[in-house]
Amino acid sequence: MDTIIILDFGSQYTQLIARKVRELNIYCEIHPYNKIPVLDSNVKGVVFSGSPYSCNSADAPIPNMENIKGKLPLLAVCYGAQYLAKWGGGSVQQSKIREYGRANLQYIDSTNPLMKGIGVGSQVWMSHGDTIERVPENYRCICSTDNVKYAGYQIEGEETYAIQFHPEVHHSVDGLTLLKNFVVDICHCDQSWTPASFVETTVADLKAKLGNDKVVMGLSGGVDSTVAAVLLHKAIGQNLHCIFVDNGLLRKNEFESVLENYKGMGLNVKGVDAKNRFYSLLAGVTEPEKKRKIIGKTFVDVFDEESKLITDAKWLGQGTIYPDVIESSSVKGPSQTIKSHHNVGGLPDYMKLKLVEPLRSLFKDEVRRVGRQLGIKDELIGRHPFPGPGLAIRILGDITPEKVEILQNVDDIFIQGLRDNGLYDKVWQAGAILLPIQSVGVMGDERTYERVVALRAVESVDGMTADWSHLPYEFLAKVSNEIINRVKGVNRVCYDISSKPPATIEWE
Ligand code: XMP
Repeated sequence: MDTIIILDFGSQYTQLIARKVRELNIYCEIHPYNKIPVLDSNVKGVVFSGSPYSCNSADAPIPNMENIKGKLPLLAVCYGAQYLAKWGGGSVQQSKIREYGRANLQYIDSTNPLMKGIGVGSQVWMSHGDTIERVPENYRCICSTDNVKYAGYQIEGEETYAIQFHPEVHHSVDGLTLLKNFVVDICHCDQSWTPASFVETTVADLKAKLGNDKVVMGLSGGVDSTVAAVLLHKAIGQNLHCIFVDNGLLRKNEFESVLENYKGMGLNVKGVDAKNRFYSLLAGVTEPEKKRKIIGKTFVDVFDEESKLITDAKWLGQGTIYPDVIESSSVKGPSQTIKSHHNVGGLPDYMKLKLVEPLRSLFKDEVRRVGRQLGIKDELIGRHPFPGPGLAIRILGDITPEKVEILQNVDDIFIQGLRDNGLYDKVWQAGAILLPIQSVGVMGDERTYERVVALRAVESVDGMTADWSHLPYEFLAKVSNEIINRVKGVNRVCYDISSKPPATIEWE
């Protein structure tokens, strides 16, 4: 498969370069600049990312270019462009004027293949503190802005290109054209990496890797584990043994409906009712981190017992996706993010199995596209994220089965309301929170003293930051009425209007 290698020098935008290349249906991988992989014949080109470092600083990241420069097409972005200019004997200095934000290309060498289809005036996004003052003689300028002469250059006689702006950022309006010129015209990559081709090659690879081995896998009802399980099932059928644990903290009827969906897809799945075990261990516990720890440990115990019942299992299936992988091998420090199961010894038995992670190379939106390709229902693919500890971190204070039931009913009215009003897919995540207080109300002629719930809905891209959703007042009014009328024990509904940061999405 044609592949582009992106070397990461620590830029905040590195993942975006990969997303854009993938958007062009070309496979690419991100690697730290100091861990260059073997560049086999599939590798058609290399991209250097930007970096927060100055190439003049003592600790500037320095790549080994021996097998790259002059041997493979290379596109150096921002820091990469400055590094290459300095490396060749040019000069890079701290820029005297601000080179941050939008700029326009006022000169373009339209004969240069990298600039094909990009017109004078094209807006680009700059984000750098240093600037290239002088380039070596054999570096030819291919574009400039009013303030930045060497906005882009090519090294003569080589397929080595460099640009100081960021084509991967949305504000560079012809950025995708530029990247396409590089990966398609210059690197000659075939644009054939699609969800269908991914499914085909992954299933074949899984078949070859797993043979007749048994795989155990925990399902959560979420998108990643579902898509991973369906891929594994396509490869090894009934040798995939799935376990879906009811921790008593799922949404209303979720365990039954998700289990039914899984069975409908032909998955060999065992539903384990561990509700009471979780409730009794959580009884009286109010501290959020303690709740999380109890739930995590109990899940491990249940899963371990269940996986032991599957004799001769050799592999553990997981729904790990690419952002997790990049995070644990990033320039910024791999060691502290390595997961604890890499530390074999004294661990539950199932953790000693070999790992199989069919989605390791995919971004979240790609997982969804693959899921659709596999024919998984939209109902499962489009689900909002839901935290592992479930409703436990939305019940402030201690957890009882009664409180879980109240919250499930409130949450169900809210989520169903979002669906019925065409709002579910417009918000990134939504849910309800049961507060540890009571308030006075009046119902008929009676004074009531009952529970308060909060509703939360947010817009986000990745959960790292989030804005509260501006849901229509009419909708909120209707949902509030319905909750108070239908859920016994609740007499007041609030709407959370805090953004993250400084608030978080979950309340605990
Ligand atoms: P916060 O509350 O940190 O949440 O803004 C960001 C995203 O992460 C989810 N979340 C969790 N997911 N285990 C999980 O699997 C957890 O302990 C956990 N805590 C928060 C949250 O639902 C949101 O999508």
